[in-house]
Amino acid sequence: MPAKPIQSPLTDDQLRVTGDALQQTVVDLIDLSLIAKQAHWNVVGSHFRSVHLGLDEVVAAAREFTDAAAERATAIGVSPDGRAATVVKESSAAGVEDGWQPDTQVIASMVDNLWAVITRLRGHIEATETADPVTQDLLIAIAARLEQLHWMWQAQQA
Ligand SMILES: [Fe+2]
Repeated sequence: MPAKPIQSPLTDDQLRVTGDALQQTVVDLIDLSLIAKQAHWNVVGSHFRSVHLGLDEVVAAAREFTDAAAERATAIGVSPDGRAATVVKESSAAGVEDGWQPDTQVIASMVDNLWAVITRLRGHIEATETADPVTQDLLIAIAARLEQLHWMWQAQQA
């Protein structure tokens, strides 16, 4: 196998910036999907049903965009790393506690976790502006959906 089996349309500098942005997005989204599933199973309280179902919307978005970001990485010649150990090391998400979680706590936790991922994502959008506008376009689409979900979780706190 050649050292670089996939030819990149980017220069080395562009590739470094863009590859880092995509790799970090992949691990954040994997973590977000695991966090939302953990909460989906463990939420209790009077708002159980709406929170339980809302969490699966986060899972679906996170999984779909994980694949999109990872496959954008492959398209520019970067090998994505979605291994559990890498997610633990590199994720910027806030995480979730173990055990049963009251619905109000789950809502607050989802607001925090989405915000943490969105904050780093917005940094990547800035960084890829000139490095690779095609990747930036994908990151903008991911941010738009995550910010929509962030609004919906905040609205439940009001
Ligand atoms: Fe379920």
